[in-house]
Order: sequence, then structure tokens, then C-alpha cells
Amino acid sequence: MLGRRPSPVHLASAHAVVTGGSSGIGLATARALAERGTKISLLARGQDRLETAAAELRQTGAHVATRQADVADQKALTAALAGLVEAQGPCDILVTSAGIARPGHFLDLPDDVFRQMMEVDYFGTLYALRAIVPSMVDRRRGSVVAVSSAAGLLGIFGYSAYGPAKFAVRGLMESVRAELAPHNVHAGVVFPPDVDTPQLAEENRWKPAETHAISGTIKPLSAEAVATAIVSGIESRQFLICPGAATRALARYGSILSPMLNGRFDRKVAALRRSGKTR
Ligand SMILES: NC(=O)c1ccc[n+]([C@@H]2O[C@H](COP(=O)([O-])OP(=O)(O)OC[C@H]3O[C@@H](n4cnc5c(N)ncnc54)[C@H](OP(=O)(O)O)[C@@H]3O)[C@@H](O)[C@H]2O)c1
Repeated sequence: MLGRRPSPVHLASAHAVVTGGSSGIGLATARALAERGTKISLLARGQDRLETAAAELRQTGAHVATRQADVADQKALTAALAGLVEAQGPCDILVTSAGIARPGHFLDLPDDVFRQMMEVDYFGTLYALRAIVPSMVDRRRGSVVAVSSAAGLLGIFGYSAYGPAKFAVRGLMESVRAELAPHNVHAGVVFPPDVDTPQLAEENRWKPAETHAISGTIKPLSAEAVATAIVSGIESRQFLICPGAATRALARYGSILSPMLNGRFDRKVAALRRSGKTR
């Protein structure tokens, strides 16, 4: 079996678990998969948004189950995922979209924010994989896709807590890709730029002026565009899933591009400081 060309999961007969599936990129991905006939399981903390999302998906004819859990709580997450598998059958597709972002100046951010980003964004991804991947390996079938970020490709001003957690997600997925491929289990990692979701609105409240200046006037992508890239990445078993040309270039040529980008961003920060608009 080793060395044989891997086969993608057939979406119409699959069961997909989406962490963070009650909002933003996770919900858009759940919608896109449900349109293909995939059974959907949504996991998040808040019951209200889970119920609203599930009701919307059921209206389209989808089979939907939900569970509440904090992805940073391994015991609770593992139990919730087991409940979803019991309700809807073995998991064929895992998308880990649950995440939070808290920008700020390195010198101002409280210590617990650095820990929280790792616990939710990195360990929340790791725990979901640890719970689901063994059964995919046993069944020689599955696709696991983790949502990282453009901030997981390049160190960006204001993201000293969030960025390292998303770098860790990327490192995890690069390692497991190689280990899972011989078992016919696909691993992919998504690097979205700014995406128009509730998280971005929350993030914008905390961004230092310099971070705003760096992102400039770039229009955020829609969650639907990211979801389309994720579904296409699952179907074609891509490892790098890069919605948008800029993150695609960064993912492929990051080590070559980063000195030039860092120089450009440094000049923007310097100009802002000269204007007196920073602290
Ligand atoms: N939006 C962007 O610009 C952008 C860019 C790059 C990468 N990303 C990444 O994309 C992913 C999705 O973000 P989004 O923009 O779609 O955000 P969103 O709209 O705020 O959705 C986040 C989802 O994650 C859930 N969640 C948050 N913390 C959780 C926890 N501790 N345990 C379980 N569920 C949790 C939320 O539900 P509850 O709050 O009810 O738990 C919600 O369902 C995140 O990993 C984010 O870092 C976003």
C-alpha cells in the first residue's frame, strides 16, 4: 500500500468535524462542505452560536451535530469529539478553525495572553489532532486541515503573542504531513490573510497603530473565499492552502521575501513614529 497514489475523501459520504464551526472561517467551511453533502459536526464554546449555525445548515438538508467544548481543555475536547463521532460516525475530515487573536505591543501585553494564544491556537489544534488522527490512520482514510495565519509565515509588528502560536501550528502540520502521508491521511495547513469575520473586528480593537499601518488598505478576504480554498485543498490533498496571492507567495518564497517585506514594514513603522501617531 505504501507509495500508492493517495485517494481523497469523497465529500458526499464523509463526516467533517469543524472546531470553531459556529462562526467565521469555520462556519463558512461547514457551509461549503454541507453543500457537497458532507455530514457536519460543529464544536465551539458558545451554545447560542452553535445552535444558530446548526439550524441554518439543517435548513439546507445537512445532517448536523454540535458539541460545546473549550479546545484548550484536552479532556473536555476529547470527550466532545468522541460524542460527535458516536452521533455521526467516524471522522473523515477534521478542520481546526477554533482560534483567537490578541495583538498588542510586546512590551504591553500581559504574560497570560502569550500563554492563552498557545493554549487555544496551538494546543487546541494539537489536542483535536491527537483525538481524531489515530482513527484516520487505522481506517487509512482522512483529511486534517489546520487553520494557521499569514502571521504564521512572517513575524509581524503587534503579533508577538499570536504569531508564534500560528508558527507552531505550521510546524506541527509540516511534521505530521510527512508522518501521515504513508497512511493515506492528508494533512493541510491554511494561511489566510485578513478575513472579514468577528475575530478580525475584535482584533482591530487591539491592533497598535503600526499594525494598522502595515495591513494598510488591503481589503480583507471573505470567509467564503477561504472556505472555498479549504474545500478545494481537501479535494486535491494540498498541503499549503493559501487563499490570496500574497500569502501564497509568502508560503512558497517566505525566506527570500521576508528581508524585503521586513524592510518595507520597518519604513512604515518609522514613518508613523515620525508623525507622532504612536505611543
Ligand atoms: N479573521 C482573520 O483575519 C484570520 C486571519 C488568519 C487566520 N485566522 C484564523 O482563522 C481561525 C478562525 O477565525 P475566524 O476569523 O473565523 O474567527 P471567529 O469568527 O471569531 O470564529 C472563531 C470560532 O472559534 C471558536 N472558538 C474560539 N475560541 C475557542 C475555544 N477556546 N474553544 C473552542 N472554540 C473556540 C468560536 O466560538 P466560541 O467563541 O463560541 O467558542 C468561533 O466558532 C482562527 O484560528 C484564526 O486565528 C483568522
